[in-house]
Parts: sequence; C-alpha cells; structure tokens
Amino acid sequence: MHDTRCRPAVLVHGGAGGSRQDEDGCVHAAESAMAALQRGEDALAAATAAVVTMEDDGRFNAGSGSVLCLDGLTVEMDAAVMDSRGRLGAVACLQGVKNPILVALAVAATPHWLLCGEGAERFARTRGFAHHYAVSEKSRNRHRQLIAQLHTDAAATYDVDNQEFMRFWNYDKPISAAVATPCDTVGAVTRDIQGNFAVAGSTGGSAPSLLGRVGDTPIVGSGFYAGPFGAVAVTGLGEHIVRHLLAHTVYQAIAGGMPLALALQQGLDRFDAQIDIGLIAVSRTEAGSRSNRSMPTALMTDDR
Ligand code: GLY
Repeated sequence: MHDTRCRPAVLVHGGAGGSRQDEDGCVHAAESAMAALQRGEDALAAATAAVVTMEDDGRFNAGSGSVLCLDGLTVEMDAAVMDSRGRLGAVACLQGVKNPILVALAVAATPHWLLCGEGAERFARTRGFAHHYAVSEKSRNRHRQLIAQLHTDAAATYDVDNQEFMRFWNYDKPISAAVATPCDTVGAVTRDIQGNFAVAGSTGGSAPSLLGRVGDTPIVGSGFYAGPFGAVAVTGLGEHIVRHLLAHTVYQAIAGGMPLALALQQGLDRFDAQIDIGLIAVSRTEAGSRSNRSMPTALMTDDR
C-alpha cells in the first residue's frame, strides 16, 4: 500500500536579535510541540503548544516576557495562528492575559479572524481566560534603558527620530524618562503526519512605540502564513515587514517550487541590513530558517 504519511516536523524561533544563549527555551518549546504531534494532535495544536511554552518562558518578548510600553506600565500583546485547513485567528493590542496565543486560537473558532484591544480582552474573559499581569525584570531593565536612550540622539528605532515618540505621545501619563529593544517575536511552524501545516506567533510588540501600535505578528500574510504547501513565520521590525507581505511572499515562492533555503534568503534580501529580520518555514520535505541577526531556533523531526 502506498504510504501517504508525512514526516512530522517542528521549527521554533525566539526572535531576530535574540540571544543564542536562550536556545534551550526554543528546544523546550519544540519538545512540547513534538510531544503534541506524537500524542496524535494536529499541526495547529502543536504550533500552539510551542508558543505557549515560549510565552511562559519569560526570556522572550511574548507573554510573560513581553516588553513594557513607554509608560512603564502597559503591556500590549499580539498573537496569531493559522493552518492549512483554513483555521485562522489573531489578537492585537491584547492586555491582561497570560497566553495571547490561546486567545488567538479561540478567535479562530468565532465568525471573525482578528479581535483587538478592549474587545479582545472582553472576549478572553468570556472564554474563561483569567486576568494576568506580569512584567519580567528583563523587561523592566530594557524599559529603563529605552527611556534613557530616547533622551539622547541615538535612534531607538531604525530610521525614526526619537523626538517622534514625544511628538505623537498618546499615553495617559507624560513621558518621564525611555532603550532600543529588538521587536523580537516568538514563532513556530509545524507539519503533522497527515501533511497539515500550521504556524503560530506571539509578541509583546516593539519598544519604543505609541500606545495601540500593531506590527506584523497578527497580520495574515505579513507575520505568518500557512497553506497546502507549507507554513512561514516572520520576526523583525513589523513596520517594514508588512510592506513586503513577507510571510505570504515567501510562501508563494515555496508553493511555486523554489527550494526553501532560497525562498527564505530572497525574503531576507528584500530588507536593508540595518533592519532586524528573521524567518522560519516548513514545506512538504524541508524546514529551515534565515536571519540577518542572531536568532535562537530549534528544529525537531520525528523520523520513526
Ligand atoms: N515583529 C514584531 C512587531 O513588529 O511587532
């Protein structure tokens, strides 16, 4: 009998600009996803499990490790899931939950694909997600450095004058003091034994930013994409990524038969080297990553 089963695969990243010393967090996340696949769960459940693990880790800019907004108080998080079976859910500017990725998964079961702000938080409460607010010491330190840098001439964000954040300031309290933090994101792409593909991504956004800022992570085709030929997750500076619909552009290249490594490289080559960019992807037969910065990753396949 012809064997139509696929070789399960999981690939996780911890953000372009992240430290390779944190790679054990990606390995742990990939193990969570592979355990889900080995229990018979599908690609979407596995990608979600990986991102939950990354959100809970505290070292990555997502979930419990999310960066602080410029007011030193607010945490706004974005997350998204998508699979090759058509499931799609996302949240943007979500506050007060532990695992935004699980709220994004819950959105995929509604008539909508994206909920944001207060509506997303209210939705989370109706689905039983308890209020949660935690800021890691790493995020507090980053915030102190950021405020200090905003008061200098050294641009905290690529190609943006620090004064722009003062000029358009939209927080309740006035700016008191603000360091450039990479707008890193966590993400996972998976392939299950049936040949389904899925992607999940989560971020605390970029710092510095205005209140209500949304990058690429919850925007379909920009920060993530999955279809019958594979799945792609993107990390880096959202304002630039969205202009290239990067995840869908790379997906289309893979769907057109381009070797995965070349598709990723061509995606990366679209950007000025000063802009942090990272990509991971899985196809029917391949999996790989590319970044112009250090980027922690972990790849796991089931060869049984
Ligand atoms: N890639 C994360 C962001 O720009 O929000």
